[in-house]
Amino acid sequence: MAVLAPIQNLSAISGNGNGVGSRRRLRTRNGKGGWWVVQMAASDAAAGQIGAYEEGKLVRPKWTGQTPLSRLVGALISFKPLYSFLKLGARQVLISTAEKNNIPWREMTKEILESDVYKELESIQNRSLVYPDYYLNPFHAYDEGNLTWLAAAEAEAATMSMVRRALPDASSVDEANQILRGNWLQAIEQHHLQYSGTSMIGDILDIGCSVGVSTRHLADKFPTAKVTGLDLSPYFLAVAQYKEKKSAPRKIPISWMHANGEDTGLPYKSFDLVSIAFVLHECPERAIVNLVREAFRILRPGGTLALTDNSPKSKILQELPPVLFTLMKSTEPFLDEYYLTDMEATLREAGFANIRSILTDPRHMTMTATVPQ
Ligand SMILES: C[S@@+](CC[C@H](N)C(=O)[O-])C[C@H]1O[C@@H](n2cnc3c(N)ncnc32)[C@H](O)[C@@H]1O
Repeated sequence: MAVLAPIQNLSAISGNGNGVGSRRRLRTRNGKGGWWVVQMAASDAAAGQIGAYEEGKLVRPKWTGQTPLSRLVGALISFKPLYSFLKLGARQVLISTAEKNNIPWREMTKEILESDVYKELESIQNRSLVYPDYYLNPFHAYDEGNLTWLAAAEAEAATMSMVRRALPDASSVDEANQILRGNWLQAIEQHHLQYSGTSMIGDILDIGCSVGVSTRHLADKFPTAKVTGLDLSPYFLAVAQYKEKKSAPRKIPISWMHANGEDTGLPYKSFDLVSIAFVLHECPERAIVNLVREAFRILRPGGTLALTDNSPKSKILQELPPVLFTLMKSTEPFLDEYYLTDMEATLREAGFANIRSILTDPRHMTMTATVPQ
């Protein structure tokens, strides 16, 4: 957990470094001529090397967008018998790779499917919600996309696998998770400290919270904030609420909301931080634009938007072997649109300032921006 302390004219970055329970201090400008000191717990300080991850030479991978290679893959995928074969293959690769990496995919899924999770649906589902058309596509090898219990039960294992794939050199899934989520949170905190002119993150919205993994990380990092996780899948939210109920109670409980992040119905200027983590690569460009505009509308002046997702500049993603990118594209219908979207321009056009982007792990960038004061 990070503790913020305003100070004037501190000139040194100090720290005692390592060991459980030790703390490290980083200084950062507070936008008013002084400095903030960010005290980080050892786990934060031990997070990876933000900014030290390698970029490739291209603007985006050759297998995305309108290149001949991308079109060839698209044509292969649109051939129905091959699509069904790829879909099955992608699923099998996912599960077996996860289990080889000590992620007990089938056990985790069974545990959820055999639990009382179903009871949560009633209290969470907004029956009058109209789903955007793109959300009703087959997705991630599920014919009904994210709108099933199976997708919800498998989501946490799938998230762990994504994290493991991003950091294959980490010594364990836990360490990979600590680095990926630690770097993302650190990028958010540093941006907010530098540009918000206020220390307070009082209200946080996690758009596309899925089963609540990112939401719980945000709530742990900012324990005095009121955190809301919002998602279009009531099944995912039911799992999120079920898991949170089974965990140690928090001083400020997380709220869960079944809504479309493009049009949340939440009041203007009601959040200090809006996070959209690993959502945009699943959306067509029109939804990306709407999500960014809606974030701008609900953020307070000085508030921070944090996007994290696949980085078009990632060297690893640019050099992905054909089998892997073909499998990936077969289960992610909007990947090309995502890679073709100029994210920085989208944020600028929505009104955001101080737009910054950094590789927070070898595959993903975190883009942060501020609503002008
Ligand atoms: C890969 S998951 C996000 C994972 C999570 N944020 C994390 O970091 O672990 C993407 C989520 O975005 C949600 N989603 C997609 N479009 C959305 C929209 N327009 N509004 C709200 N949620 C959306 C999906 O239902 C899915 O749960």
